[in-house]
Amino acid sequence: MTPHNSATKGDYAEAVLLPGDPLRAKWIAETILDGARCVNRVRNCLGYTGTWKGKPVSVQATGMGQPSLAIYVHELINVYGAKQLIRVGTCGGLSEKVKVRDLVLALTASTDSSMNRNAFGGFDFAPAADFALLRAAATAAEKAGVRWHAGGILSSDVFYQPDGLDSYAVLRAHGIMAVEMETSALYTLAARFGAQAVSICTMTDCLVTGEELNADERQSSLEDMARIALDVAVGEG
Ligand code: HPA
Repeated sequence: MTPHNSATKGDYAEAVLLPGDPLRAKWIAETILDGARCVNRVRNCLGYTGTWKGKPVSVQATGMGQPSLAIYVHELINVYGAKQLIRVGTCGGLSEKVKVRDLVLALTASTDSSMNRNAFGGFDFAPAADFALLRAAATAAEKAGVRWHAGGILSSDVFYQPDGLDSYAVLRAHGIMAVEMETSALYTLAARFGAQAVSICTMTDCLVTGEELNADERQSSLEDMARIALDVAVGEG
């Protein structure tokens, strides 16, 4: 048990899916996993463990933003023994090449957060995906017929940027494909504690074209992404 999690050791599988939204965690657990049981309800940041294709998998909500994700991921790895951490999130598109519904597999995540700056002193650490998990995610997406892109993303602490798209100009000029709010911390913690991580994000709203998914499309995209992530979790990518 921790201040943020009422689960006991052994309640989580080694592979954990990480949506931001607790209700998405609940939906994945109750709709897709077999035999899921709730292992954490603290703050309604729901966590579940069940099976997928006969193998144990957990799903734990992280909340929004890097500070919140970092608490859950730190504890999942260091208290509960998680070894593979697979974020299933949404992202805003920063490139015309990435269409809504496409998956963005984050090779690396730049950030405007002070978390890494404070941790690495004079160095700019480059948080990176685990290659085996990322390759498995690409393979699983291809099998599912879902378009995917692998590239750099931005993990920002700021959803409502004061200058909108202009705030991202220098990053777009360096090929950054999409913006979300969690991956940089996930990859840094996985590196620090010797775990594997990959971030799989559905592009739900394109900041360049204004195109966005409606509620039904979001739901079906989430289902595709969850199944792809679960295949990665059980080594079937
Ligand atoms: N910004 C940050 N995170 C997001 C966005 C966005 O525009 N869209 C989906 N997640």
